Amino acid sequence: MSEKPYYVTTPIYYVTAAPHIGSAYTTVAGDVLTRWHAQRGERKWYLTGTDEHGEKVLRSAQAQGMSPQEWTDKLVEEAWKPAWVDVDIAYDDFIRTTEPRHTERVQEFVQALYDQGDVYKGEYEGLYCVGCEEFKLPADIRTDEDGTQRCMIHGTELETVSETNYFFRLSAYADRLLALYESQPDFVAPASARNEVVSFVKQGLQDLSITRSTFDWGIPVPWDKDHVLYVWVDALLNYATAAGYGKDPERFAELWPADVHLVGKDILRFHAVIWPAMLIAAGIPVPKQVFAHGWLLVGGEKMSKSKLTAIAPKEITDHFGSDAFRYYFLRTIQFGSDGSFSWEHLNAVYTSELANGLGNLASRIAAMVGKYFDGVLPEPTDHGPAEQALADKLAETVTTADQAIDTLAFHDALAAINDLVGAVNGYVSEQEPWKVAKDEAQRERLATILYTSAEVLRAVAVLHHPTMPKTAAKLWTLLGAEAKLGPLADQHVQDAGTWGQLPAGSTLTKGDALFPRLTEEA
Ligand code: MSP
Repeated sequence: MSEKPYYVTTPIYYVTAAPHIGSAYTTVAGDVLTRWHAQRGERKWYLTGTDEHGEKVLRSAQAQGMSPQEWTDKLVEEAWKPAWVDVDIAYDDFIRTTEPRHTERVQEFVQALYDQGDVYKGEYEGLYCVGCEEFKLPADIRTDEDGTQRCMIHGTELETVSETNYFFRLSAYADRLLALYESQPDFVAPASARNEVVSFVKQGLQDLSITRSTFDWGIPVPWDKDHVLYVWVDALLNYATAAGYGKDPERFAELWPADVHLVGKDILRFHAVIWPAMLIAAGIPVPKQVFAHGWLLVGGEKMSKSKLTAIAPKEITDHFGSDAFRYYFLRTIQFGSDGSFSWEHLNAVYTSELANGLGNLASRIAAMVGKYFDGVLPEPTDHGPAEQALADKLAETVTTADQAIDTLAFHDALAAINDLVGAVNGYVSEQEPWKVAKDEAQRERLATILYTSAEVLRAVAVLHHPTMPKTAAKLWTLLGAEAKLGPLADQHVQDAGTWGQLPAGSTLTKGDALFPRLTEEA
């Protein structure tokens, strides 16, 4: 295991309020992605964290009558880290932009850009959206009939900001960025996001104001203490500072460049234009990919921390469990597109695919092995065309799912696994083992039907381990697989399609339902 860890990041979230399911969506996607790579036997490194400076966070702290440091300390410990426990995130590092390991390196980074002449002092007047922490370009502004100018994402009135600031020569990097998109075609994904970025840069870039001087909640600009650094320049650097940039060259060399930055489509340009330009300017390799996903919509609108539509992940996990949460959002929304959330739809998918689909199948098979074979998995001595069809389907599912993950098509991977479970359910219904069991002369047939079903469930446990770690572990126990095959974490996903791994003689136990039936009022 000497290869570079597969390094995935989430955006670092503004700590203005507790997380909602939109923030959890990205964090779950990155968790499933990195766990999938681990299931291939690869090393992985998963980074998340919080973006704590800037006007937006400052104002939210002021509204609480707290200092921004007290406010962010409280929210990180009481809301953000617990939320990641609620949805079962196995991050390897959690960075806060107020930590010295970050602030000190950021100062060195911008000082170097200043020293090499990439930063200059100038005047700026523009329309600023505090929600986005961004000066808005005309194309991103909506004007009401009365002339009020609003942010297209937040709908809030833009504020005119007129300041003397320091600027990064972003305009000088347009050609190098276009060359990057050309030479590294997967740098921005999916294709729609790539097209958007390329046409944006082709129109030419303006220099970027990278300091603010009307408030002081930010990293001080090292050469001019009247300014703090623009929050986005500070924030983007987290991906490098957390990986040891400027502090631990060996670690940085091992982790960098990042394999995937997962971002929402609203923050694509920061990651696909400004961030690589900053890196190119500093002579640091750019990440391999920036992948933009869509928004979770409630009632047709983007769920946001500042709106009343925000749903806490815990509201869902308390009722449906963390695995169902993780499965539902990745299974039902094409990664890259927007998706609407509704309780009814979640309940319908939970019931049909998890409780009635996978859960019921596992408990039926365990119950029949218990009843007809005293819980000991029998030898499959009558493997025929129906069994071979399932074995083939399993092999095909493993290939499809594994390839889908390479393009972050979680929805395709999970659809394929759900199809496989459906195929086993169909097989059991057709074979009617409960009838076969009545005929002593058909013991071999009965043994083969139950073995075949259990063997596919063995692979389903491996395939679902990244997405539904708790359920997969329960399934592994139900199958009695650990005794003969070892820990679930050690089963390589790419080998999961090889038929006949679950040994006859394994002890199956029914245990608790994988997905309990839920009562209406809960
Ligand atoms: N702090 C910046 C990111 C800095 S990264 C160097 C930020 N924070 S945020 O908290 O406003 O948003 C973080 C991420 O959450 C973004 O990728 C955004 O797209 C995502 N989401 C916020 N609301 C969302 C939905 N309703 N649905 C899906 N993702 C959503 O921007």
